[in-house]
Amino acid sequence: MNEDLFSDITDTLFANKAILSEEYQPDEIVEREDEIDAFRSALKDVLFGRNPSNVFIYGKTGVGKTAVTEYIMTALKAEVTRRDDADELHVHFRNCNDDTVYRTVRALINSIRGDDCEPFPETGHSTAHALETLYEEMDSNGGTYLFVLDEIDHLSDPNTLLYELPRARANDHLTASRVGVIGISNNYAFRSSLSPKVKDTLMEKEIAFSPYDADELRSILTTRAEKALIEDAWDDSAIKLAAANAAKDTGSARQAIDLLREGGDVAEENGATKITDEHIEVAVDRVQRGRVENKLRDQTMHGQLILEALAKLEVSGSTPAKSKHVQQVYVRVAESRRQEPLTTLKSIQNHLADLTMLGFLERTEHNEGRAGGAHYQYELALDPTIVIETRDAIESEPT
Ligand SMILES: Nc1ncnc2c1ncn2[C@@H]1O[C@H](COP(=O)(O)OP(=O)(O)OP(=O)(O)O)[C@@H](O)[C@H]1O
Ligand SMILES: [Mg+2]
Repeated sequence: MNEDLFSDITDTLFANKAILSEEYQPDEIVEREDEIDAFRSALKDVLFGRNPSNVFIYGKTGVGKTAVTEYIMTALKAEVTRRDDADELHVHFRNCNDDTVYRTVRALINSIRGDDCEPFPETGHSTAHALETLYEEMDSNGGTYLFVLDEIDHLSDPNTLLYELPRARANDHLTASRVGVIGISNNYAFRSSLSPKVKDTLMEKEIAFSPYDADELRSILTTRAEKALIEDAWDDSAIKLAAANAAKDTGSARQAIDLLREGGDVAEENGATKITDEHIEVAVDRVQRGRVENKLRDQTMHGQLILEALAKLEVSGSTPAKSKHVQQVYVRVAESRRQEPLTTLKSIQNHLADLTMLGFLERTEHNEGRAGGAHYQYELALDPTIVIETRDAIESEPT
């Protein structure tokens, strides 16, 4: 029996499912002509052996910052090999998520040295020494270096690195090589956290990526579907629906692609030969559930219980609700989940403030005239049924 378990699965709608995965790097970028133009002209000096400009790319998640940057770098590297005037080009990518300057510089050194050479020590040196070593490595190879620092806002103490690195040549740390920094971020407020001098250099050329609208997502999805799915495996209206949903929610191409892939899975589960609107509708629900679940699991126990209380209030039509009212329901929820509830209203209010900031709740201010004063009321910004079902699922897991 066991060896037959999968034998009846023979048909698939996917010609190459990896093309719909997170790791896939598209060789074709659509709907970003203006951004690509701006990027091209920011880097054109590389072709003539001049100092490259520093570039800062920003935009919300899933709008193509990484994909476009990789695409541009591949094209630039190819062009450089065809040109006599251009110096050799070295491109190094680094994701700065929660990195220190030392670790980032160390990673760049190791990336230049390659796997065969001894890595730079993890500890025991100053950041200044690490930077010096980086400059030595660069100068010993010569050419132009482009450092792509993704999620640059996650770098602890970005000012040091972003002050030093772009000025290395002007400050005579580099003589045989040139350097350009390409910073990528989805946090626009990050700009204002930088020192004015750093802002001027890093943001020499700024390129903003806006969220995609439904038409743009439709064309991105169609291009992807043509490579990832077999012929005639989708209704155009299904792609339109997936694009419309993602556009309405976030404008993220990642979300749109997730919907299409999930829609393909749903279609296959149903033994269908085509992805239709109905499959996308199921996919929308599943993807939404998945997101709520991840977000919920990231919260503390009491944060989760408060969200559950708000979901209950929402279902019974009692929102927006005052913190006092939330507390009453929360206490009942906590007891039903066999948890010791927090006792002070203040601690509930602190949780409510945090959950509002994270986008789980919406808060409105209410005025009850001179005597009552102002107070806040809260409602859930997520689907309450999904929250309750997810909480039930979490509670029924073995601990
Ligand atoms: N214009 C486009 N053409 C084709 N594919 C695209 C386009 N824009 C985005 N994509 C695809 O959408 C997905 C998300 O894009 P990408 O990873 O570049 O987003 P991002 O802006 O870097 O997001 P994050 O801030 O979360 O890192 C990727 O699979 C990417 O290949
Ligand atoms: Mg990215």
